[in-house]
Amino acid sequence: MIQFSNSIGKLTGESTLLYQDIARRVEKERGIKTINFGIGQPDVITFKEIRDKAKEALDQGFTSYTPAKGIDELRQKIAEYLSIEYKGSDVKKEEVIVTPGAKTALFLSFLLYINPGDEVLLFDPSFYSYAEVVKLLGGNPVYLNVNFDEKSGFSIDLEDLKEKINSKTKMIVLNSPHNPTGMVFSPSEIQGIQEISKERGILLLSDEIYDHFIYEGKMRSVLEDPEWRENTIYLNGFSKTFSMTGWRLGYIVAKKEIIDKMGILASNIYTCATSFAQKGAIESFNTFNHVEEMISLFRRRRDVMFEELSKIDGIKVYKSSGAFYIFPDVGGILERTKLSVKELSIKLIEEAGVITIPGEVFPLELGKRFIRFSFAIDEEKIKEGIRRIKETLDKS
Ligand SMILES: Cc1ncc(COP(=O)(O)O)c(C=O)c1O
Repeated sequence: MIQFSNSIGKLTGESTLLYQDIARRVEKERGIKTINFGIGQPDVITFKEIRDKAKEALDQGFTSYTPAKGIDELRQKIAEYLSIEYKGSDVKKEEVIVTPGAKTALFLSFLLYINPGDEVLLFDPSFYSYAEVVKLLGGNPVYLNVNFDEKSGFSIDLEDLKEKINSKTKMIVLNSPHNPTGMVFSPSEIQGIQEISKERGILLLSDEIYDHFIYEGKMRSVLEDPEWRENTIYLNGFSKTFSMTGWRLGYIVAKKEIIDKMGILASNIYTCATSFAQKGAIESFNTFNHVEEMISLFRRRRDVMFEELSKIDGIKVYKSSGAFYIFPDVGGILERTKLSVKELSIKLIEEAGVITIPGEVFPLELGKRFIRFSFAIDEEKIKEGIRRIKETLDKS
């Protein structure tokens, strides 16, 4: 057989989708309907105004390639929106590139900077894709301690960050609100990371894709620092805020020289983001009334999920302040059942018909004691799913 490249061999492929596959098998074999707490997307259809604009663009024949960095109107809209949202950021159209999803934005960012042997500092735990792409490019993920306290939630260890920076460190990846913990990290933590990265001359990649999913506390964006251009790549997308996961639209903000290089990569990899989807996305900036409704709905669901999870023995749960995830410490259950967190998640699919994502999908250490629950699912299903989990665990 013709050999695959060395880099592909570095990927584990272990993502959240694996658990959906197990669920499909269980549904088929046992004829039961599973409840899915593994979902990473809002359960509402993209708002009508956005759909209508994309349809209009299609009907008007807006079906050709667009410029590699995206259509001017959308880049301009993104720049204006961010400049209003984060006063002083003064983002310009030339500092924006539209990408096919935030995942591609991440990929371009790593591709532009990572050489074999470079180290990238990631939170432990973090979104699985960061480490995978870093490894694909021959870089090495290095994990920063995230601490957990049942009362105050998750926090970043800035001392650990300082200690782990060395001559090989190229980049720090920040993500707040955070997948998988649902934590909105405090403004002082974000500023602390930003200061350290500037002082040490390290690139800061900030993935703010959950920026509208805030239930408590104040979200601090890296763009609030007027000096953001010095060393920052800001990343966002339409998938979560406007429930547009299938449209594949994300964007990067960085100084013009970086965006120009990204444009060269884009034109060689995918040419451009989908033309009519970009037209639809322009309209999304007029739909924040729907976003607010969705966030109120999600806040209620979070409250219900927190209350229900709190009733389970062996779980320590913090009521998440952002995103749409709750990440409880299930260490007590693991000790009692002698299962690993992965085995526990599989048991919950097979015996309770409930899909959750074991924390070890989000490497490295901390996740081994935690499970991610998404509350992007209706209230009745949340109650029923957690009732089933409790019943299964009571029997174990
Ligand atoms: C933290 C984080 N970043 C990026 C993405 C990717 O988003 P997109 O659908 O825009 O590729 C996700 C999706 O789950 C995510 O959780």
